Amino acid sequence: MTVNIELKPTTEPLSAAERSAILADPKFGQYFTDHMVTIEYTEGRGWHSAELRPYGPIQLDPATSVLHYGQEIFEGLKAYRQTDGSIACFRPEANAQRMARSARRMAMPELPEELFVGAIDALVTQDEAWVPEDPEKSLYLRPFMFSTEVGLGVNRPAAEYLFMLIAGPAGAYFSGVGKPVTAWLSTDFVRAAPGGTGEAKCGGNYAASFLAQAQAVAEGCDQVCWLDAIERRYIEEMGSNNVFFVYGSGADARLFTPELSGSLLPGITRDSLLQAAKDLGIPAEEGRITVDRLREDAASGAITEAFGSGTAAVVTPIGGFKSPEGGIVIGDGQPGEITKQVRAHLLGVQHGDVADEHGWLHTI
Ligand code: COI
Repeated sequence: MTVNIELKPTTEPLSAAERSAILADPKFGQYFTDHMVTIEYTEGRGWHSAELRPYGPIQLDPATSVLHYGQEIFEGLKAYRQTDGSIACFRPEANAQRMARSARRMAMPELPEELFVGAIDALVTQDEAWVPEDPEKSLYLRPFMFSTEVGLGVNRPAAEYLFMLIAGPAGAYFSGVGKPVTAWLSTDFVRAAPGGTGEAKCGGNYAASFLAQAQAVAEGCDQVCWLDAIERRYIEEMGSNNVFFVYGSGADARLFTPELSGSLLPGITRDSLLQAAKDLGIPAEEGRITVDRLREDAASGAITEAFGSGTAAVVTPIGGFKSPEGGIVIGDGQPGEITKQVRAHLLGVQHGDVADEHGWLHTI
């Protein structure tokens, strides 16, 4: 289906020289491309007024409901420069479907998949010069949606929403590509409880995480690692990504990741790695793991590696964990061979160097 997105007159985009300077060191989430997509929703009328327009500020009434009650959801995905120079996005349909699930949980309207993917096609095509050539870099796409109805009542969900898509070049999310991070096992705070919004990708989950993240940094860690809300001993996920452990090594290696408990984010990179592990002949299992088990299995050498997985984080080695009960070193604290192997495989598929056996690439 062709999606009709009206192109608005453009303001002056950045010069090629300014863009190249940014692409040389894009960092993460600090620079944005020249355009953005907006699509409005009104109850009774549905989705309308789709526009591709110059990137820039938007105006909101102070009583706009999202500013008070936080009805907001978002996604994260990337466009990759392929080895042959073309551009492809990784699994945009999966992001569209997860955004629809998040919308249902937050009592928001679902954006049809063809509009979601059509918005991506329109923006990436328009701003294609922003897709880096360097295979360690990509164009990060941030679709998001929030309530725009003006009013302070909370007796029903809002009747008006705005979907937006912005994009910006991305390098490493953590400082240094492939450098191991440490994680603080949060026992003071929980991210999400059963029946809550943990499975939805909503801004509120992240708002509630910053205090624990600040605590992690104060403890000398890069990020927080969340435990379950009930027993506070099962590992759920990290502050900005899912977590994997490697048991054994070489031909005996197997992956383990916390199962989708209902309160953790169903990561698309997580799902892709579970499949990629199978493709590489590495057994992969989902289940529950307590902090005590992690401590024992790391100390005995049964767990040899750990890594975080996410769109922004890609595959980030985890050197160790810290908690009030003391530190847990994983292996020798350095990136392991399996971590490097699955990372290279995933990036290979994303950049078109490894066969795309599952039809994950969406060519722009
Ligand atoms: C992503 O990896 O796309 C995320 O959403 C993580 C983000 C919160 C930085």
